[in-house]
Amino acid sequence: MSNELLNVIRGRRSVLRFTGEPVSEEELSKILEAGRWAPSYANSQPWVFIVVKSEETKKKLGALVERIALFRRGKVALSGHGLGDPAVVIVVAVDPMKDPRHHVEAGAAATQNMALMAHALGLASYWAGIYGEPAEREVRRILGLPRGYRVISILPIGKPAYQGESERADLSELVRYEKF
Ligand SMILES: Cc1cc2nc3c(=O)[nH]c(=O)nc-3n(C[C@H](O)[C@H](O)[C@H](O)COP(=O)(O)O)c2cc1C
Repeated sequence: MSNELLNVIRGRRSVLRFTGEPVSEEELSKILEAGRWAPSYANSQPWVFIVVKSEETKKKLGALVERIALFRRGKVALSGHGLGDPAVVIVVAVDPMKDPRHHVEAGAAATQNMALMAHALGLASYWAGIYGEPAEREVRRILGLPRGYRVISILPIGKPAYQGESERADLSELVRYEKF
């Protein structure tokens, strides 16, 4: 079982440290394009993708992520501003007014599309989870997002400084046919 898409999906790993090399505008626009084409409830497209290149803003986001990220693979020492020195950061936020029902899922789908595109381009990313209203409020404040917006993810992107590793449960443990 092998094809290009499956190889990209299977090959993507979270990477928490980057080389500091730049991400080109062409690469960035492909990543954003992948986000744009994510599915959403009734095609509501409730998302906004905030591209952050400013070191000052990355530092602020990094300080927040360091404080709240609940899970970090221990052996990876973070460097720089707490996000691991990414060339660019994309913050995915959604407007619940555009889709009161499924805005979170839509933002998650867009985040994953962008993570996969980054990997397909030889870049890496990790999904920094934003959990809880105080954290979301802080991201909104840092980025000047309107009050009603929900923050779904912070996605630092850059050339990977190492190879990420993770495994998955076997399909036989996950799949049931017809009933549980
Ligand atoms: C909703 C969500 C939140 C996550 N939050 C964090 C996080 O705060 N810190 C972190 O290091 N990784 C975070 N991750 C990345 C996961 O830890 C990672 O995807 C998982 O361990 C599998 O590893 P892999 O992505 O390398 O395959 C998050 C992933 C998701 C989907």
